[in-house]
Formats: sequence, C-alpha cells, structure tokens
Amino acid sequence: MASQRAGIALLFLTAWSQLVSAWPLNSPYVTINTRQQQLEDEYDYIIVGGGTSGLTVGDRLTEDGQSTVLVIEYGYFGTFPSSHYFLSSVDTGMNPKRMFNLTSQPCPELNNRQFSVGIGCVVGGSSSVNGQVFLRGTSDELDTWAELGNDPSSTWTWDGLLPYFKKGITLTPPDPAQAEEFNITYDAKYWGTESKIYATFGEGYLGGVMKVLYNAMRAMPNVNVPVDHGAGEAGLYWYTKSMDPQQYQRSYARTGHWDDVRRSNYEMIVGAKVNKILFDGDNASGVQWISRNDTNSQPVTVRARKEVILAAGTVHTPQVLMLSGIGPSNLLQQANIPVKVDLPGVGSNFQDHSYIPSIGYQWGTSPNMPVTNPGNGGGGPPSLAAMLGLPAVTPDGYEQLAAAFEAQDPTQYLPSSYDETLKEGYRQQHKVMSRLMRSNNVIFLEVMMFGAGGSVQNLHPMSRGTILIDPTNPEGDMIVDYRAATNPIDLDVMVENIKFMRRFMTTGELAQYNARETRPGTGVSSDEQLAQWARGQIIPSVFHPIGTCVKMPREWGGVVDEQLQVYGVNKLSIIDASIMPTIPGATTSMTVYAVAEKAADIIKERNA
Ligand SMILES: Cc1cc2nc3c(=O)[nH]c(=O)nc-3n(C[C@H](O)[C@H](O)[C@H](O)COP(=O)(O)OP(=O)(O)OC[C@H]3O[C@@H](n4cnc5c(N)ncnc54)[C@H](O)[C@@H]3O)c2cc1C
Ligand SMILES: *[C@@H]1O[C@H](CO)[C@@H](O)[C@H](O)[C@H]1NC(C)=O
Ligand SMILES: *[C@@H]1O[C@H](CO)[C@@H](O)[C@H](O)[C@H]1NC(C)=O
Ligand SMILES: *[C@@H]1O[C@H](CO)[C@@H](O)[C@H](O)[C@H]1NC(C)=O
Ligand SMILES: *[C@@H]1O[C@H](CO)[C@@H](O)[C@H](O)[C@H]1NC(C)=O
Repeated sequence: MASQRAGIALLFLTAWSQLVSAWPLNSPYVTINTRQQQLEDEYDYIIVGGGTSGLTVGDRLTEDGQSTVLVIEYGYFGTFPSSHYFLSSVDTGMNPKRMFNLTSQPCPELNNRQFSVGIGCVVGGSSSVNGQVFLRGTSDELDTWAELGNDPSSTWTWDGLLPYFKKGITLTPPDPAQAEEFNITYDAKYWGTESKIYATFGEGYLGGVMKVLYNAMRAMPNVNVPVDHGAGEAGLYWYTKSMDPQQYQRSYARTGHWDDVRRSNYEMIVGAKVNKILFDGDNASGVQWISRNDTNSQPVTVRARKEVILAAGTVHTPQVLMLSGIGPSNLLQQANIPVKVDLPGVGSNFQDHSYIPSIGYQWGTSPNMPVTNPGNGGGGPPSLAAMLGLPAVTPDGYEQLAAAFEAQDPTQYLPSSYDETLKEGYRQQHKVMSRLMRSNNVIFLEVMMFGAGGSVQNLHPMSRGTILIDPTNPEGDMIVDYRAATNPIDLDVMVENIKFMRRFMTTGELAQYNARETRPGTGVSSDEQLAQWARGQIIPSVFHPIGTCVKMPREWGGVVDEQLQVYGVNKLSIIDASIMPTIPGATTSMTVYAVAEKAADIIKERNA
C-alpha cells in the first residue's frame, strides 16, 4: 500500500516536472521564473509569500487585468496526488519536503518538551499541507478584534467579516437523504457561491454510532445546536472539509487563486527567499530576495510602485520585518540590524490552540442505531464536532474559573521581553477574555467526534509566546517559544476539558454503554493528578499559529493599524494570520481567507 502510494506520487512528480520544464518561462499567462533577467524591475504590488493569504490577495488585486503583482514564494510547486487528511499518508499533507523544518524551544511547564512547528513552505503555503478541517469560530470571538482595535468604527467584527467569509468560500451542501437522517443542517445565507475555494461536507459512510454520539452530546447541559457550522455560534455541529465537490481533492489557495487564474499581470517566482524590505525614506519601495537553494547568490531587487504586502505567515512575517529594521529595538541592536521603526509587538502575542491527543475509552456495549442512509458518495463522511464554551464544559465551575483568571495580575505570566505597550495590550486582552470565559459563545473545548473518547483541545490558551529572530543568526531559523501553560489557567481549563470528556462518556445518555477509560485511566482522578498528567500530554500547537504582527493600537503593542498598514512607515501592509489579535475558536484557514478577502478590498480602495 505504502509503496503503491509512493509509486503514484513518483508518477505525478515526473509528469509535473515535465510539464513545468515544458512551460515557456515567459508565458503570456503566468510567469514562473527564478532568474533576475526574466523579471520586471517594478510591479504595482509585491506580495511576500505565495501561501494562503498571499495568493488570495494576488488574485483579487489582478482581477482588473491592469494592476501588476509579483508574488515571491520560498517554496516550490508541490504535487498532490491525493485529497485526504495529512495524517493518513505522507504523499498528502505533512510531507517534510513541503514543510519548514523547525523545532520549538523547550516548554518548561510541559516537562521541558520540544515540539515540531508545522508550517507549509510550498506554493499555497499552509493550505497545501493542512488537515482540511474547515471552521470559522464564533461572532463573540471575532468581535474582540474590533474591541481590541479600540476604534468604535472598526469593521473587524463578525458582521464586518461575514461578507468576506461569503466571498471567500463556496459551500457544497450535504447529501439530502443523509442530511435529513443525521440532522446535518446548513443555511446558505452564511456562504457564497463564487469562490473557487470549496467547503464540502462529503457524502461518505456514517454509522449508527454517530447518531448516538450526536444525541448524547446534544443532551449535555448548555450545548447549543446551531443550524450551520458557519453561523458564528458555538455548539454541536457537522462541518465541512476544504475540498472540491467533483473529485474531492484538496481545495486550497493554489487551486482557488492561482492555477486557473491565467493573467499576464499576475506573476510568481518560486524558490526565492525575501530577506529585506527596501525603503525610499519612510515609503516601502520594494524587496530584496535571494535564491532559496543558493544562499550565497547575489540578492535581487524588485521595486513596488504601490505597496509591499507581507504574507509570509505568522512565523516568517516577523522575520522579514526584523531583518528590515522593524521590530523590538533592543533585539535588533543585539543582531546589529539598524533600527528603522521600534515596534516591540513584532514577534510577540503568539498564540496557538493546544491539545491532548487522546482521552482513551473502550465501549462496554457498542452503541448503535439503525441507519437507512449511510451515505454513498465520496469525500469521506461529514464530520462532527462539539465546540463548547466554558458554561457547557463546566456548568458548575466556569464562574469560578473566570473569576480566578480575572483576579490575576495580567502582567504576571508574560514573557520578560514584554515592554509597557505589550503589557497594556495583554491587559486589554485579559479584560476581554475574563468576560468571555463566562460566554457560552466562545469556544474553550473542541472535541472531534468519531467514537469513544478522543482528543480534547483548548482553543483559547491565555499564555502568550514569542517568535523572534536569533540575534546571532537573524537570517536563520526563527526561535519559536510557545511558552505553553506559563499561565496556569491553561492547565485548569485543560483539566475541566478532560473532566467534561469523562462526564460525557460515563453519565447521561452514554452511561448505558459502560465505557471504560483506558487513558489516563480512573486512577488519575484529582484535579492535581490530572494537571500533572496533562503536563506530559499537552501539545501546544494544532498548527494554527497567529498573532505575531497584531492589528491593535500601537500603544497596546500593535504592529498594524485597522487598515493593516505597518506603523511608522508607508506603503507596507500585512495580510496573513499574524495580524489576528486573538485566536478564533476554529481551525484558522477559513478565517485567513476571509481576512485576505477583506484586506484585498482595503488595499484596492486606498490605491484606487
Ligand atoms: C500541518 C498543518 C495542519 C493544519 N490544519 C488545518 C486544518 O485542518 N484546518 C484549517 O483551517 N487550518 C489548518 N491549518 C492552519 C492553516 O492552514 C493556516 O492558518 C493558514 O494556511 C495560514 O495562512 P497564511 O497565509 O498566514 O500563511 P501560509 O499559508 O503558511 O503562507 C506563508 C507562505 O510564505 C512563504 N514564506 C515564508 N517566508 C518567506 C520568505 N522569507 N520569502 C518568501 N516566502 C516566504 C511560505 O513558504 C508560505 O508559502 C494547518 C496548518 C498546518 C501547517
Ligand atoms: C530537520 O532538522 C534536523 C536538525 O537540524 C535534522 O536532523 C533533520 O534531518 C531535518 N529534517 C529534514 C526533513 O530536513
Ligand atoms: C435537528 O436540528 C434542529 C436544529 O437544532 C432541531 O430543531 C431538530 O429537532 C433536529 N432534528 C433531529 C431529527 O434531531
Ligand atoms: C512617499 O510616498 C508619498 C505618497 O505616495 C509621496 O508623496 C512621497 O514623496 C514619498 N516619499 C519619498 C521619500 O519617496
Ligand atoms: C538550485 O540552485 C542551482 C544552482 O545553485 C540551480 O542549478 C538549480 O536549478 C536550483 N534548483 C531549483 C529547484 O531551483
């Protein structure tokens, strides 16, 4: 099986490289080249990073057929013979050839463990390697973005982003018979019909156990059941994957915003690493890049008439800024980089989801219910998740948990590198999150429901990490420090998440199936024991890094303003996941598409 897959992968690889080498380098449609003399000297826009956000904005800015865009991407064109989850096979998502090879700093609160930092480096970016789980979080979560902008007229709200979720994503409804029987509901008003990025339910086999799980979760206290997984509500819902409705192949930034977009004004170079933004006074005027596989090659310069747009992702956008002299001045000085703008927020406010891979159970009696329409199509089965606020996770304990967080000195657990502005920014977040821990519409627990037990995720860690340059080798690997569980509230929440799973599996409607806990096992029972166990289990990333170039006021440690322009300079903007002030209670790619769609409108408008 594995070798068959490898064989197929090889076939595609061969076919693809023949295709690539057969393409004229200066095709009238798309130009893929890696040499200076084949590039123009100047474009309207230069986009750094041909990933999820970069290609979305590149597509939108060139729609007029006039504006010229050059995308500069570190990775190459990948090959994707299969559509399924990255965990199922190395020929799909998490192939090391398409990922940066980064390891985090040890996490002292997690028994000093280190973690692999998953980030795509390939055309399409992380959307090329991700798990295709397609969710968007809640209205309360996105409304924090406006509140943390401290601008009453801010449009970074759920209502302000919904039109861009619709513009960005086309829904493929579920199979009607299967939907009726399993209560897979949706409402077209939350989705668009124009984008070539697809959210597809799949029509694969669903067994009777899924009905039992669905009904049992629905019966738990305070569990809401929204009509649609894109309605901006927490609760229990069936959700889509990012895949196309015909072949059930991965639907990602390259297929949606590059492959079929054949415009002579939309160009990309691959295998090129941008390491510097160039300036005319305070105006960004272009970038400098070097060949990825020949780092001693001469840097190449390309100019931007209108804007330089950063889309290198949460890990590398801070690097490009810092190498250009924009970042925390003390760190830049240590690295001998002349300071252009002292912006302490660059590389801070780092957040990700965290999870325990497995709370193990074995059924005593296998639960089942009769099924008439198990599904007969492709794309795998529709997926089911419980995405719960703390009042559902711990109806008796959430108030106490929120009060404990609220009573903290907000600056107590922050990185020592935080200056006064960053402390103030976290103080504001602390205020907002203290309130939202009491909301049932902010997701603190995600359980993907397949069978007995499973993984528990905390979607709102309050610890904050950093992603900074190594001052002794600023162009080398970024130093990724999750600082997971440095704020002890994160362990408290995880303990409640485990206890929820226990109540779900052993009380209420599932009690009759006499499930036995295999992991950690009932011997681990007090909160202290559970917390201790969790320290050895938690993985601080679900590959959803955000927040290192945050959209917040500069006096709150922000890096970009409401229009996504970098403070202190002109003609430089950021459009990727790094601008998110707080993490959505959802896998992040759908929100990245929405942010990018909105960013494209903002950029077009100011350059009209
Ligand atoms: C393994 C994995 C699993 C995931 N699972 C899911 C999931 O199931 N569902 C979901 O919704 N989300 C998932 N995500 C997260 C989601 O894919 C990301 O949040 C999103 O794609 C990030 O988009 P971005 O535009 O910010 O960055 P990216 O898409 O990562 O794009 C950044 C691009 O910039 C390039 N680049 C970096 N530095 C430079 C430089 N100096 N010069 C030029 N180019 C550069 C990179 O090569 C990359 O292509 C997952 C991510 C990963 C990695
Ligand atoms: C990743 O880096 C480590 C340490 O530098 C190295 O041992 C390993 O071979 C690398 N893996 C890949 C796939 O490049
Ligand atoms: C399906 O969900 C809707 C909306 O929550 C609910 O009103 C309805 O009773 C459910 N139907 C079934 C068969 O569970
Ligand atoms: C910067 O851009 C502004 C607006 O386009 C322009 O008026 C100004 O002359 C530019 N400054 C420099 C130094 O190029
Ligand atoms: C890598 O660089 C070498 C020259 O240093 C070049 O010949 C080769 O084509 C490059 N490979 C790719 C995939 O760009």
